[in-house]
Amino acid sequence: MKGKAPETRLVEAGRRPEWTGGIVNPPVWRASTVLFDSVADMKAANPPADGTLHYGRNGTPTSWALQEALTELEPGAAMTRLYPSGAAAAAGALLAVLEAGDELLMVDSAYGPTRLLCDDPLKRFGVTTTYYDPMIGAGIADLIGDRTRAVFMESPGTHTFEVQDVPAICAVAKARGLVTLIDNTWATPHFFQAIRASIDLSILACTKYIGGHADLMLGAVTATEQVADRLERARRLLGQTAGPDDCWLSLRGLRTLDVRLRRHEENGLKVARWLQQQPQVARVLHPALPGCPGHEHWARDFTGASGLFSFVLDGGNAADAERLIDSLKLFGIGYSWGGFESLALPADPVRTATRLDLEGPLVRLHVGLESPDDLIADLAPALAAYGSAT
Ligand SMILES: Cc1ncc(COP(=O)(O)O)c(C=O)c1O
Repeated sequence: MKGKAPETRLVEAGRRPEWTGGIVNPPVWRASTVLFDSVADMKAANPPADGTLHYGRNGTPTSWALQEALTELEPGAAMTRLYPSGAAAAAGALLAVLEAGDELLMVDSAYGPTRLLCDDPLKRFGVTTTYYDPMIGAGIADLIGDRTRAVFMESPGTHTFEVQDVPAICAVAKARGLVTLIDNTWATPHFFQAIRASIDLSILACTKYIGGHADLMLGAVTATEQVADRLERARRLLGQTAGPDDCWLSLRGLRTLDVRLRRHEENGLKVARWLQQQPQVARVLHPALPGCPGHEHWARDFTGASGLFSFVLDGGNAADAERLIDSLKLFGIGYSWGGFESLALPADPVRTATRLDLEGPLVRLHVGLESPDDLIADLAPALAAYGSAT
């Protein structure tokens, strides 16, 4: 695949005729039991490996094809493993590399459930978490102690969209022998190649843009050679597996990722730039727009932007923002993002290592594939009403 453009890789990746015949999108292989001709053959299938049917939990051609496709999208990666959700993928990656007594450095702008994973189960099992400023860059060196084992990044950050200096953090982490992890869900490997940027474990909620149609739950972790065995061992021992329907839908979604992401980017930027002109909006936090913390890192490291961003209202309180969101007709109200439809929700970021000084409440938008003019027409009266109510 070397030398081919990313959009060509999206179409070709993971398509192995020896696994799936000539079928372009492999069908849903459902399996628990796999029958062998003899006990010797059954024993020979151990340890389980992609390409050899062993037991349903260890995959079928449907999941192998998706795993291989995701690995091919991350040059330098050795393998991908699948999980029943993005949250499970983050847990699977962390449990693969942490031990009791370790310290984890976790970005302060991490997705809420990732923080809770650190603050509850990891803490109970003896892992301490130190949160750090998303804009810390090479300054992460000051936080590294004898017990520090890993650095977790999420770029851009949940709700506030700070773009981290991933290469600078990885350079320090590698020099100190630490494992590097990132939640790469916003950009996907199509817009940010995490392994090439020296990440060891790249986590993806396929629930979002890979599936792309708001109808599945799936997570993936793509790993370098150095950590691949630990990732697979933890996955197997923790009993993680992914449903074949969700793998199949994700593989189908992956093929159109380029066209969808580019339209999300175009529509999102049109709405974001319009919001910047509105008097009721204090700031728009969109990685591709100057003024977003770390925009220069986005411009240097990413090849595109997806459709998720936030804006800060100028004054008002949480109840005012909720009324604004309730009044929208085209934007849906609901969790998740990355589907074809637009969504709005009030964002209330948790911070323990840094302070957020916002001029008013924060609203997160996912801009979908509708006409951006229709989306702006939906937002305009809601903002006008906000201006007169606050
Ligand atoms: C940045 C980020 N990472 C991970 C997840 C978790 O994915 P899932 O909902 O598939 O568990 C989410 C979900 O919203 C997310 O926004």
